Amino acid sequence: MAQVDYATQVQPIFYNHCLSCHVSVNGSGALELDSYEYLMEGDSNNGPVVIPFNADSSLLYRVLLRDSVIVPNEPICCRMPKNAEPLPQDQQMIIYNWINEGAIASTVSVMSESPREPPSFDVYPNPFNNKINISFMLNQSELENIIIFDILGKRVKTITRKNYGVGRDLVFWNGVDDFNRPISGGLYLIGFEVDNKIQGLKKVLYLK
Ligand code: HEC
Repeated sequence: MAQVDYATQVQPIFYNHCLSCHVSVNGSGALELDSYEYLMEGDSNNGPVVIPFNADSSLLYRVLLRDSVIVPNEPICCRMPKNAEPLPQDQQMIIYNWINEGAIASTVSVMSESPREPPSFDVYPNPFNNKINISFMLNQSELENIIIFDILGKRVKTITRKNYGVGRDLVFWNGVDDFNRPISGGLYLIGFEVDNKIQGLKKVLYLK
């Protein structure tokens, strides 16, 4: 199944069912659902509402369930949308899958037709705390960049090594950007730049 796209699949659900109350100017409580940034800020009475990769623990999903009685710090408990029918099952699943896929802003477009294959690589541990290992296999001895993006698609770090040997190699990333500044915790994407295209993105979660 294709990865859920936030802008075209998730945000419209909020437009149709939630914004009458959860919009910045209205003030229903603090949670605002009119943009990805506001949603992830998760300024709710109960802390962040989205926990990437963990829909079952995410308030955003749990409030949708028919029998939801769980808004821990609220005197009133509620199933959302409040005072309305539950969302259709397929819309609940879109939100569920989107969170479990990492709750990223929008699918970063990955070019498909490259003459060269990206190296196969693994990242571990994931989630990571101090550093993450990027282990990969190169078939050709060439310059390859490893690029790290934040969830908004901004490049935060480029790891360049010249003259990679052929074969298995390992580099690590310790959660700093190109200027050696520590970055905040959260979700990042790691991919290889091959022929000026980003390939094989993997999502990683940096816990601080
Ligand atoms: C009719 C108004 C209304 C609609 C529509 C509505 N909500 Fe809410 N929502 C509230 C209110 C008010 C609260 C605060 C808890 C309460 O008073 O029941 C709340 C709380 C929440 C919370 C808990 C966050 C917190 O601050 O603790 C989440 C998550 C949430 N809503 C998500 C949604 C989603 C997703 C939708 C759309 C599918 C939605 N809501 C639709 C009024 C609404």
